[in-house]
Parts: sequence; C-alpha cells; structure tokens
Amino acid sequence: MITIQGLTKAFGSKIITRGLDLSIEKNEFLAIIGRSGEGKSVLLKQIIGLIKPDAGSVVINGEDITKLHGKKRKQIFQTCGYVCQFAALLDSLNVTDNIGLPLVEEGMNIDDIKPLIAEKVQSVGLNLDVLEKYPDELSGGMKKRVGLARTLILKPQVLLYDEPTTGLDPITTRLIHELMKKTHDEQQATTVVISHDVEIFKFATHVAMLHEGKIIYKGLASEIWDCTNPFVYQFIRGLPEGPITHVGSV
Ligand SMILES: Nc1ncnc2c1ncn2[C@@H]1O[C@H](COP(=O)(O)OP(=O)(O)OP(=O)(O)O)[C@@H](O)[C@H]1O
Ligand SMILES: [Mg+2]
Repeated sequence: MITIQGLTKAFGSKIITRGLDLSIEKNEFLAIIGRSGEGKSVLLKQIIGLIKPDAGSVVINGEDITKLHGKKRKQIFQTCGYVCQFAALLDSLNVTDNIGLPLVEEGMNIDDIKPLIAEKVQSVGLNLDVLEKYPDELSGGMKKRVGLARTLILKPQVLLYDEPTTGLDPITTRLIHELMKKTHDEQQATTVVISHDVEIFKFATHVAMLHEGKIIYKGLASEIWDCTNPFVYQFIRGLPEGPITHVGSV
C-alpha cells in the first residue's frame, strides 16, 4: 500500500532522512516512535507530499508520489488524510466552516453538511456549542480535535496523524485513540500515527522506530513490550537510573 525506498532529505548540511526504507500494508495501523527532532514530522510530510525528498521513492497505491504532478497527484492525495502536529485551522473561519472546508472545496453546500459536521464534532468528544466558535476561542486540545474532525470528514483511505494526542488529558487521549481505531477499521484504511504515548500500542497493529534518519526497528505492537532492541527498549520503558545509554545523537 505504501512503500518507501531510499528516502533521503537534508536541510542545508543537516541530513534528516538517511536512505529510509519502510513498507506499510493496507489495513496496517502503524505507530512510529522516535526522539524529538529525529525527523518524524519530516517523514510524514514526505509521505503526504508536503516536503519533497532529495532522493528515494514513496509509492502509494502503485504510484510514486515523488514523481507525480498535477491532476494525478491531486487524485492520490484526495485519498489521504493528514492531521498535522499543530492543528492548522483557518483563523478567519468558525469551527463549522473549518471542518466543512474539505467538502465545500469539493462543491458541497455548507448548509447540507451541517448535520455531518455536528456528528464529527461529537465523535471527537466536543460539545456542539463549539460549532460557532473561532479557533482563537478554543484551547490547544480543542483545536487539535477540530483538526482531527476536519480530516475524518473526507473518509480517507490513508490516514496520517502527527502526534494527535500530545497535550490532551488521559480521557480525551483514550477517546481519540478509540476514534482512530474505529475509523481505521470502518474504512479499512492504512493508518500511520506518530506518537509518544505508549497507550497507542494497544490500538496499533505495528510499531516502527525512527532513529538517526532510518527505521531501525519494525515489529508487531502486541510484541513491543518483549522487544529486545536496545533503542526501543529504552524508549518505551523510560530511562533507568544512571548515565543515559543507547540514545545516539540527534
Ligand atoms: N522546513 C524545514 N526547514 C529546515 N529544517 C527543518 C524543516 N522542518 C524540519 N526541520 C528540521 O528537521 C529536524 C527534524 O524535525 P521534525 O519536526 O521532523 O522532528 P520530530 O521528530 O517530528 O520532532 P518532535 O517529536 O519534536 O515533533 C529538526 O532538526 C528540524 O529543525
Ligand atoms: Mg514532530
């Protein structure tokens, strides 16, 4: 479904992605872990075409998106949904218009889709009174959930989430994880989520670790607590007493 080969990206002299290989099957729910600044967001942005790699390929549904242009490129990305790390709502639009935007851009009338927007708002655990509010009237966590509702309204086949629960309380985090899982199952989607929250392992099918620009480990989420890879082991269990080992340099 998604095959990444030899992906390489540098910003100036700083190499972020170093010939990265990763295959993600249809129906897979992959959690990507890795230290802050390792290049997780840059990886996701290369998958969704927001950052152009210097070398390598990203094949989605048989098409190398790094080589596509125009209409064909648009068609592929219409099947993909991306929830970015920071909500990225349009400040001049209220919540209803923000969530409805992807469908309005496809020619639908906002009044016709208001019931659907209300349903999505409730599905991310928000009250209906947010519908008329503007982004600057919302908390950070509320903005995040509005961004999630906006992505889910299109029913994408490929779902890419960048830290969807960072900064949310444990109850909302559980709700978002359950929603992501439900969406994944209902849409038979391919899901990739970057998360620092170990609770995601209960919902994901696979876990991969990004380290020094490469995927250094990929395995079943159900077996992650038995993983003996030292980087994974230390990352998911937290640091022991004493000097930090196996962390490499960023
Ligand atoms: N557009 C850009 N231009 C230049 N450098 C960038 C750009 N985007 C990211 N970087 C750099 O790439 C590196 C990786 O950034 P990235 O945001 O992917 O990290 P991350 O693993 O997502 O971290 P975090 O867990 O903190 O979100 C950082 O050093 C960052 O400064
Ligand atoms: Mg990031």
